[in-house]
Amino acid sequence: MTVQHTLSILKPDVTRRNLTGKINAKIEDAGLRIIAQKRLWLTRAQAEGFYAVHAERSFFGDLCEFMTTGPVVAQVLEGNDAIAKYREIMGATNPANAAEGTIRKEFAESIEANSVHGSDSAENAASEISYFFSRMEIVG
Ligand code: CMP
Repeated sequence: MTVQHTLSILKPDVTRRNLTGKINAKIEDAGLRIIAQKRLWLTRAQAEGFYAVHAERSFFGDLCEFMTTGPVVAQVLEGNDAIAKYREIMGATNPANAAEGTIRKEFAESIEANSVHGSDSAENAASEISYFFSRMEIVG
């Protein structure tokens, strides 16, 4: 087992419905530690920068629009195999395909308003964490 860090975002559908605490409880119950956290309202440019890897996808414009409809909560999670562990408890991208007990099954509204983002690889975790957080803001 390797201790890893991963970047989590609680999306605007979460802050709109006041679900931050419920989702944080699921994260902590899974054994992940929230070692950095901030609430911010992304600009369009910040959302496009974060999702630049999806720039050519048909849903890119709508996704970036959605991510600016309200505050998000960006987090760094720490734990054994944190990247895979968080993706496991998030559930499938499309909540219609998400397993019972996962965050997206329980809370997501749609494939776009799917409540949470989690890094999909160690390389992306490192770049996504540095997009939101400085070293001094990460307190393990
Ligand atoms: P996320 O893990 O944040 O990464 C990219 C996001 O694009 C994804 O979650 C979804 O919320 C969103 N998205 C919207 N439409 C689609 C789609 N058709 N396929 C994949 N992701 C989509």
